[in-house]
Parts: sequence; structure tokens; C-alpha cells
Amino acid sequence: KTIFILNGPNLNLLGKREPEIYGHETLADVESRCAAIAGPRGVAVSLRQSNHEGEIIDWIHEAREAAAGIVINPAAFTHTSVAILDALNAYDGPVIEVHISNVHKREAFRHHSFVSARAEGVIAGLGIEGYEAATRRILTLIGA
Ligand code: DQA
Repeated sequence: KTIFILNGPNLNLLGKREPEIYGHETLADVESRCAAIAGPRGVAVSLRQSNHEGEIIDWIHEAREAAAGIVINPAAFTHTSVAILDALNAYDGPVIEVHISNVHKREAFRHHSFVSARAEGVIAGLGIEGYEAATRRILTLIGA
């Protein structure tokens, strides 16, 4: 079994981008932390990042066959993308939405998420520990 950990635009710069908001750790650190949680339970993680909405949608379609659950940080697409919501609505497994920062403490345009309407759970403001919590929750939900 595999959990997809999908990341939206600008998160390739995690660790370098606005570190006062997003911290100094990178997506590679996220992947190794989550793999260390899922691995002992017999589950792999596949962490991916794209700056392109359509590529993220293609990965969600791939997940229909290939992923037991999805952790997703859609980044700015959170607040704009009906298309990512629709793709997730065509996926049957559990979905947990993660935001590194506390979006509710920030600008009003970050307060609404299209993806939250589909997610089993939403985590914001725990830094990259949010991905670890989300991975643990997916493991529980899939009985791993
Ligand atoms: C983010 C919050 C979004 O509002 C922002 O556009 C991001 C990252 C977060 O992880 O805190 O790029 O999803």
C-alpha cells in the first residue's frame, strides 16, 4: 500500500521560501519523516510536488488505482481550485488536507478552502509536523 503526499505550487521552495512562516525544513525532510511513520506499518509514501494544477489532478486520478490514501497540501490552489476538489471527489480513499501555516491567522483570502469540503480532516499551523499527523491519521483510517 502507498500513501500519496501531494504538494502544490511554490512548495518546491520549502525551507527557502518565507522561512519565518514555513520553517527551514524541506519537502525531502517531510518525505523522510512520513516514511519513518508509515514504513513500520508496511505502507510506502510517494511525495510529489507540482507548480501545475493539471499535474496534481493527474496524480489524484492515478491515486484512484495506486494510493490507499492522500495527504494533500494544495498550497495556493486550496483557495482557488474547484478542479482539484472535483478530482478528489472522484477518489474513494481517505483524504487529509494539510497547511504548514495557520491559514486562519493570515489574510482573509486564505480562510476558505475548496478542498476542505472533501477532506476527512484538516490540519493547519503545525508546521511540517502536520504532514506526520496526517500520515498517522491515514494509517488509522486504512487500518494499517
Ligand atoms: C499553505 C497556505 C496557503 O495559503 C499558501 O498559498 C501556501 C502554503 C500552507 O502550507 O500553509 O502556499 O498551503
